[in-house]
Amino acid sequence: MADNRAQDLLSRRYRVMGHHTPLFYEKPLHLVRGEGVWLWDNEGNRYLDAYNNVPHVGHCHPRVVEALSRQAGTLNIHTRYLHNNIVDYLERLTSTFDEGLQMAMLTCTGSEANELALRMARFCTGGQGVIVTDFAYHGNTEAVSEIGTAFMPEAKTTRRVKAFPIPDSYRPLDGLGGEPLAQAYADRVQQAIDAFHAEGMNVAGILVCPDFANEGLLNVPPGFLEKAVTKVRQAGGVFIADEVQAGFGRSGRHFWAHQWYDVTPDIVTMGKPMGNGHPLAGVVARPDMIEAFSRESMYFNTFGGTPVSCAVGIAVLDAIEEDNLMQNAVTTGAYVADGLRRLQQKHELIGDVRELGMFFGVELVRDRKAKTPASTESRRIINLMRDKGVLVSTIGVHDAILKVRPPMPFQPGHADILLKALDEALTQVASEGSV
Ligand SMILES: Cc1ncc(COP(=O)(O)O)c(C=O)c1O
Repeated sequence: MADNRAQDLLSRRYRVMGHHTPLFYEKPLHLVRGEGVWLWDNEGNRYLDAYNNVPHVGHCHPRVVEALSRQAGTLNIHTRYLHNNIVDYLERLTSTFDEGLQMAMLTCTGSEANELALRMARFCTGGQGVIVTDFAYHGNTEAVSEIGTAFMPEAKTTRRVKAFPIPDSYRPLDGLGGEPLAQAYADRVQQAIDAFHAEGMNVAGILVCPDFANEGLLNVPPGFLEKAVTKVRQAGGVFIADEVQAGFGRSGRHFWAHQWYDVTPDIVTMGKPMGNGHPLAGVVARPDMIEAFSRESMYFNTFGGTPVSCAVGIAVLDAIEEDNLMQNAVTTGAYVADGLRRLQQKHELIGDVRELGMFFGVELVRDRKAKTPASTESRRIINLMRDKGVLVSTIGVHDAILKVRPPMPFQPGHADILLKALDEALTQVASEGSV
């Protein structure tokens, strides 16, 4: 941020947005253009985007831009009128789900989708208690802040939410592994259910991201989620899968991340990649739940699912198919993961590499045995990589996991650039010694 114009923009931003609105990097980026997996700043420098999942099919994908402009120049109203785009889109969207999830409601943000899911779950079950992980983020409305155990003060005081430990195989509960580990985490879910009952409250459901993305893209102990959902259902609750980050084919082999598991959700929420940057989000749920809820509680969202938004949504689905992006997530994803594992052999700082299609978590530790989180080093690395023209970020309880989650058209050639920048940054941090 050397130039005066950028400094001036930052000061003006602080004046109108305050000092605490999140901003990436020590030297914030002033971006002016994007195309595919590339971004350009105000000085003409180019950056490889290995972080953003919202531009899912690539920044400014021509098919999406064309669909948006054409419909915006024809008509934009809301869902209280009949329009082909709305019904066409929802038919296409729901066809990507397993049987039993064939009805949808549209919103503008993932937070609104989760808010609606909570209302629907509470209405349909008669319960109030919601179970989440102990490092959860699912959005920013009032009810959703209550389930935001990672960052939200509301989560600390509410009686309606209980958390279980993140189901992590790298830092396992009680040092367990395999089936006993899955069982131990599921037992913690049962403890949350029992605690609700002891306080006289029924359970509405469990709400998790099937990738456990904000928790650090965890390797979930096999069988855990199935066991946990069974316990919740036995207690009268439902399973809400938050696919806001995980969905739309990012995991490669399945369109939805929950499809990796042997359990079908009752409600699925989605957003971010859905409109490739246009505010489009929603809920897909069991028809009986949507019918029962909407019969009693009128749901309308002025900007949710307009003909323009639905034209964009259709273009995103077309681009995923036509550009073979799920296949690319499998092949390029494996290429990136192999490269990250080679770096793990070279750099002591890399404790664990996790991947799911086009999504990678690189957990950094100061000591592989003690698994001491390398939080300061992680932040240093993402800033060094930014200076080298590659954008990634950090996540996790200790903020010591590199989050690599590029737009889906990411190719092996881009991966080589990413891996080279990471290799250099790791070498530099090692040479600087312990931070
Ligand atoms: C898993 C998850 N759910 C929900 C949300 C909220 O989405 P939005 O910012 O569109 O409200 C986020 C945002 O980061 C998220 O990561």
